[in-house]
Amino acid sequence: MRVPAWARGEPAGASSPARIDLASGNPDPELLPDALRALRGGGYRPALYGAPSVDRDLAAWTRAQFAPDLSADGFPVLVTHGAVDATERLLNAYLTRGDAVAVEDPCFLASIGTLRLNGLRTVAVPVGREGMRPQALRAALESGVRAVVCTPRAHNPTGVSITRERAAELASVLAAYPQVLVIEDDHFWAVSSAPYHRITPPQVSRWALVRSVSKFLGPDLRLALVATDEESAQRLQTRLNTGTTWVSRLLQHTVYRLLSDPQVHELTARARDAYAERASLLLAELAERGIGRPSGYRPDGLNVWVPLGTEGRPVADALARRGWAVQPGHLFAAGAGGSQEIRVTTATLTMQQAREFTDDLAAVLHARPA
Ligand SMILES: Cc1ncc(COP(=O)(O)O)c(C=O)c1O
Repeated sequence: MRVPAWARGEPAGASSPARIDLASGNPDPELLPDALRALRGGGYRPALYGAPSVDRDLAAWTRAQFAPDLSADGFPVLVTHGAVDATERLLNAYLTRGDAVAVEDPCFLASIGTLRLNGLRTVAVPVGREGMRPQALRAALESGVRAVVCTPRAHNPTGVSITRERAAELASVLAAYPQVLVIEDDHFWAVSSAPYHRITPPQVSRWALVRSVSKFLGPDLRLALVATDEESAQRLQTRLNTGTTWVSRLLQHTVYRLLSDPQVHELTARARDAYAERASLLLAELAERGIGRPSGYRPDGLNVWVPLGTEGRPVADALARRGWAVQPGHLFAAGAGGSQEIRVTTATLTMQQAREFTDDLAAVLHARPA
């Protein structure tokens, strides 16, 4: 049986013959801290059955960090095996097969996969320059979706972050649907160049703010910090108990050591600047050749979303033949979005690569009828 890209858990470009990988969506390994060194720093005491499922220090750190964004300080904190894990367990804690979930269009590949594998229906909400479009979200809610999954910053694939004004608009739409579960997947938070603006209004009783450590401490830590309301915390904990029981306290301790290390903070700040700069390199080259977006598009994250004015899939194939792996946009389609774009991962992009890639992209586009 052929397993689709969204279910394989690997970048769709992974099997491509291309030599230079601009498809993976991975962070730059050079900008990730040394987890083993952090662990060797000591202080780890193995947890036994019956121990609290969340490391006390990590919970306290998370509460202090999240409190200003949540305008609260009494919320429960949980730890999951990453943001995708948190999203899947939360959805399954409330929804059953056939229920509908509103997601961004285009959409993060793993979210599409999570919905499909769990028999949940996808309701696509188009993403504009400032995030989800409020009218489309309202229509999705009116149609009966039971949950909304939204990326407040560094939306994958477009790189868009929700502005203060848009967050307020989305919050006022959501306020009329207090029983709908709202999951904010703030996966890029620590390395984001954009401020966080909360879309979850106080009226919503089931909510989660999910923050992964994958992009700044490393995806192999498989860990996300999750703040929720009380009921969602209980349901999520139950879902963890029946499967993994708890996320290894060894991992939690390591993450806590990393989060409280000033050198790691410096590295994270450098990573933030580097990712923003590398995306700019590509944008400048694209602008010079008149490809892509008009000025004003400032993506956050590890990817640049390039509109082509023609089908993305054959362009991605032609680029692969020239040695470049990129993701064709149709892979990210939750609805109609994405067929005329490609996603280019810029996390490790050099100036020379930006130039050579854009030359090749221009040549491929030139050879194709628009
Ligand atoms: C929107 C979004 N959420 C979550 C993740 C991955 O998070 P995790 O590794 O914690 O599952 C990514 C990774 O690219 C992402 O783009």
